[in-house]
Amino acid sequence: MDKKRNSFSGSIGFVLAAAGSAVGLGNIWRFPYLAAKGGGGLFLVIYLVLALTFGYTLLTTEISIGRKIKKGPLSAYGELNKKSYWIGIFACLIPIMIMPYYCAIGGWVIKYFVGFLTGDGLNMAQDGYFTGFITSTGEPIIYTVIFLLICTFIILRGVNNGIEAMSRIMMPILLLLVIIIAFFSLTISYTDAEGVTRTGMEGLKIFIVPDFTGMTVQKFFSVLMDAMGQLFYSLSVAMGIMVAYGSYVRDEDNLGKSINQIEIFDTGIAVLAGIMIIPAVFAFQGREGMSASGPGLMFVSLPKVFAEMGAIGRFVGILFFAMVLFAAFTSAVSIMEAIVTSFMDQFHIKRATATITELGIALVVGVIVCLGYNKLYFELPLPNGSVAQVLDVLDYVSNNCLMPIVAISTCILIGWILKPQTIIDEVEKNGETMGRKKLYCVMIKFIAPILLLILLLKALGIVTFI
Ligand code: PHE
Repeated sequence: MDKKRNSFSGSIGFVLAAAGSAVGLGNIWRFPYLAAKGGGGLFLVIYLVLALTFGYTLLTTEISIGRKIKKGPLSAYGELNKKSYWIGIFACLIPIMIMPYYCAIGGWVIKYFVGFLTGDGLNMAQDGYFTGFITSTGEPIIYTVIFLLICTFIILRGVNNGIEAMSRIMMPILLLLVIIIAFFSLTISYTDAEGVTRTGMEGLKIFIVPDFTGMTVQKFFSVLMDAMGQLFYSLSVAMGIMVAYGSYVRDEDNLGKSINQIEIFDTGIAVLAGIMIIPAVFAFQGREGMSASGPGLMFVSLPKVFAEMGAIGRFVGILFFAMVLFAAFTSAVSIMEAIVTSFMDQFHIKRATATITELGIALVVGVIVCLGYNKLYFELPLPNGSVAQVLDVLDYVSNNCLMPIVAISTCILIGWILKPQTIIDEVEKNGETMGRKKLYCVMIKFIAPILLLILLLKALGIVTFI
């Protein structure tokens, strides 16, 4: 075991690594869709308010726990409070469940990136291409393993030379790519077969102008819940990651400032992703095109959009999938690190041993996830109304059930048992004053746990009216 714990070389390294974790597939394939569905500007305003209050509270709590205890999530909760060790077990189990399927999706991204690079983009836009690909037995497994091995390589290089070095290169490029594609998207003007012309700028309006048509109290609450669920996932909280990354922050760094920067980065990329995706999809496919999200948006709708663009489409496709690949790698690496650092701290083993152990787990489960679309195919109805395969089951249990449980328990632990001052002291350790102190106390004690409980009850199918 390392005598001295690794640390990020400074606050920029930390901010880029944490932002790298936060900016992932969710920013690209879910945020724009939810915004368009939730009344454009209305969703954006609700999201921003939640980010500054709810998101801020959870992020600050986890990063501070990490820096205070200087251990991975598996051990950190138990050291904070003996009886809370089980939160650590959950917080470590969640990334173990997420890693395999995140790698499977990462593998699909590699496949599409390579496809556009080698000029196969038009073929990928054909109906049924994506389904044909994921239901085949060999290729998806190979791409999943490639994605996982690259993550393993980075984790083996450690915090400075691995995670931080990667984030310092990938995050600025990612930002640049999103900006370039967003600008391009706004310049699109397309006339369809019926002679209707739609422009990117009109699409932008759908994204940013608040739309109150048909608004009811119930609908408002459902937008609120969508925004909260998205924010929660987007900030990578409640799965041990921010505790792990917080444990590598140096004591002398200004925590409050870094946390603000992480939030600005994550929210900024989500908004830019909306400017990138909604205008393009609207121009080429009209309003109907905007009903796609998740894999359907990324691997089915967008390749069709790129195909409609003509010659430049291939180039835009390459840039787009390169950007998504960077977002996926920096997130997947953070998931793996949360597990590896937990194993190292809890079982006193070397980084290499911990990494290879996790590689083994992710390989086995990752292959099962891939086989879930062919050999192990089943259709399982979930309490939230969707029908699931292996990937969706792992996603549902980790994201919808375990994550809210970890977050609610963390709020109770900090808000009521240890008291918010524990976190405030950690943030203010170097004489800085924590800006939203009062707000933090009210959020962690009352509002955050209540909102999270509603989110959990909704996911379990117990609350159905929103
Ligand atoms: N926060 C990432 C996103 O918005 C997703 C993520 C999930 C990252 C799980 C790490 C772990 O897409």
